[in-house]
Amino acid sequence: MADKVILTGDRPTGRLHIGHYVGSLRRRVELQNSGEFKDIYIMIADAQALTDNFSNPEKVRQNIIEVALDYMSAGLDPAKSNIFIQSQIPELTELTFFYSNLVTVSRLQRNPTVKNEIQLRNFETSIPVGFFTYPISQAADITAFKATTVPVGVDQLPMIEQAKEIVQKFNNIYCPDKPVLVDCEALIPQNESCQRLPGIDGNAKMSKSLGNCIYLAESADEVKEKIMRKMFTDPQHLKVTDPGHLEGNCVFTYLDAFCRDEHFERYLPEYANLQELKDHYTRGGLGDVKVKKLLNEILFEELEPIRQRRHELEKDIPYVYEVLKKGTEKARETAAKTMAEVKEAMRINYFADSELIRMQSEKYQAQD
Ligand code: TRP
Repeated sequence: MADKVILTGDRPTGRLHIGHYVGSLRRRVELQNSGEFKDIYIMIADAQALTDNFSNPEKVRQNIIEVALDYMSAGLDPAKSNIFIQSQIPELTELTFFYSNLVTVSRLQRNPTVKNEIQLRNFETSIPVGFFTYPISQAADITAFKATTVPVGVDQLPMIEQAKEIVQKFNNIYCPDKPVLVDCEALIPQNESCQRLPGIDGNAKMSKSLGNCIYLAESADEVKEKIMRKMFTDPQHLKVTDPGHLEGNCVFTYLDAFCRDEHFERYLPEYANLQELKDHYTRGGLGDVKVKKLLNEILFEELEPIRQRRHELEKDIPYVYEVLKKGTEKARETAAKTMAEVKEAMRINYFADSELIRMQSEKYQAQD
């Protein structure tokens, strides 16, 4: 369809890891190359990152280039996708302000992602208002570009839900006959392992603070070291002959996320596919080292082109900032157009509203 539009983004609080990659980034690249979308906007959400890093703006500032490099090396192509910086689009803040009238405090309190993040950050007793209301700003991000499609990880589903509610409410109140805002839908990975890739230590979340990530930009040696020496498998699988367990076994979860049948022809031709490997493992007689080596080969194949592209891009950082600048200019144009429509729908476009000026002057002429 010609009028499908993508918007999505990430907070620049660190380098992107392979959880981001299988959770959303890989899909974005596929969607970008599908040719099905009229416009693609990929946002570096620095303003949102500041809602919980307000005291550390330098961290956010430093990570903008990291995220941009990760995006482009993973295959986002500036000729097809507008990569831009959130804080440089004032219309997003303006929209947020008007949308905040359409959302209640109790609705925000019920947002499961916000709830969870408040707990994680120990904000329970003093929640910054900006952080508390970031779902509203996220609705602004999405609607400013009239996005129809938002490829995100599952943790973002409650945000999309809230955005949809805001769209409905806005259109109902301000423009029931000619809706201005466009309804959107989340696109999440089909594969469960991709939806939430665990950390290499088996922790449910891959996160920088837990030190259990594999980064897109990491060297092949570092990745190998993490897989071979640190990755959590099955603690009961002591001898090769012991039956192994798949549940909670990171190596297999990662294989679920990354492996395709063709990998077996290349690296382990004695198995046709992952199911056969799993069957052997659970039966007993298959050692962890062999499985880990396979995972390492597959990750190497997937990550090496990304590393090489990053290496090239790192040689020309001003070019990367130029890409962000161009993307931001284009994003701003689109957001400004939507903003004008929003103001018209809300009837706060006073100076462009000749009807209003005419009526008010008639009112006062009649009093003479
Ligand atoms: N909340 C997202 C994250 O933490 C980033 C983000 C901000 C976003 N605005 C968005 C994602 C709009 C999708 C759509 O990664």
